[in-house]
Amino acid sequence: MKPVILDVDTGVDDACALLLAARHPDLDLKAVTCVGGNVGIDDVVRNTLTVLEAAGRPDVPVARGAAVPLIQPVHAARHVHGEDGLGDLDWPRSTRSPDPRHAVELLRDVLRDAAATGELVTLVPLAPMTNIALLLRTYPDAARGLREIVFMGGAAGIGNATAAAEFNIWSDPGAAAIVLAAVRELEIPTTMYGLDVFHDVVVTLDQARALSGSQSAELAGQLIIKRSERYQSDGAGIGDGGAVCAVIDPAGLTTQEYPVRVELSGEWSRGRTIVDTRPAIDVAHDPRAPAATVRVATAVDGKRYAELWLATVS
Ligand code: RIB
Ligand code: CA
Repeated sequence: MKPVILDVDTGVDDACALLLAARHPDLDLKAVTCVGGNVGIDDVVRNTLTVLEAAGRPDVPVARGAAVPLIQPVHAARHVHGEDGLGDLDWPRSTRSPDPRHAVELLRDVLRDAAATGELVTLVPLAPMTNIALLLRTYPDAARGLREIVFMGGAAGIGNATAAAEFNIWSDPGAAAIVLAAVRELEIPTTMYGLDVFHDVVVTLDQARALSGSQSAELAGQLIIKRSERYQSDGAGIGDGGAVCAVIDPAGLTTQEYPVRVELSGEWSRGRTIVDTRPAIDVAHDPRAPAATVRVATAVDGKRYAELWLATVS
């Protein structure tokens, strides 16, 4: 089994990722950490506890993390995820309390244990990277417990929060820049599951309606149905869930190693991931300090990952 930690701003697609990570037999979900993003941090914590309960995994520790990004104010995306962040499904809310530790402390403890046992953890940030940046700056030794990072964020192409920038990176570009600097300095294998593939793993309405027989299946189906209604489409993407599919089944994802930087200034470009696709000789002669080398996702077998998700959540 592959030990994983998810960092989430549960939202509908984070919920799709949580259901998959909690139930897939090849993954050992060690912890889930929460950050403000799609909705406020308290909604994120409650939604995360609720989804794990529906997945039959109330054993997984959940910790509350940063409520706001390092610098700019948080801009929730309730227009996408509903007022409560879980599609306004009125799903019965968990009454479980989160772990008393801050997210950074839970991450530190799990990663230090991993470094001691040698069972290194795949860290899956699916939200603004505020918690991850705070961890790496406060407890840099914890990075020794990391096998790799597979993050949903960024885009080589067009953004979504702005024309230039993807929501997770745009929400906290400073945090993303800190994480990429650590990736380069500590040589942490890192995969960017960006908008270039994010929308390509789609579950149809018929597939969603067929999901039944367990709380996990019911919730999964309702999330897709609600998301389809919101976009008036025949089905919906599992979004963040695709990044977890890539951890389970990397062969379904096509990646290419590129230098990646985060734009921190620029009125219209702040938060953009600049994926440097220039020929190596040009990159080598770039006068600026070298960037982190990241495995950037360029294509995904959407049908394969949709089937993986459906088989697991049902
Ligand atoms: O841009 C998409 C990302 O922003 C997803 O992680 C979604 O959940 C939101 O956090
Ligand atoms: Ca998310």
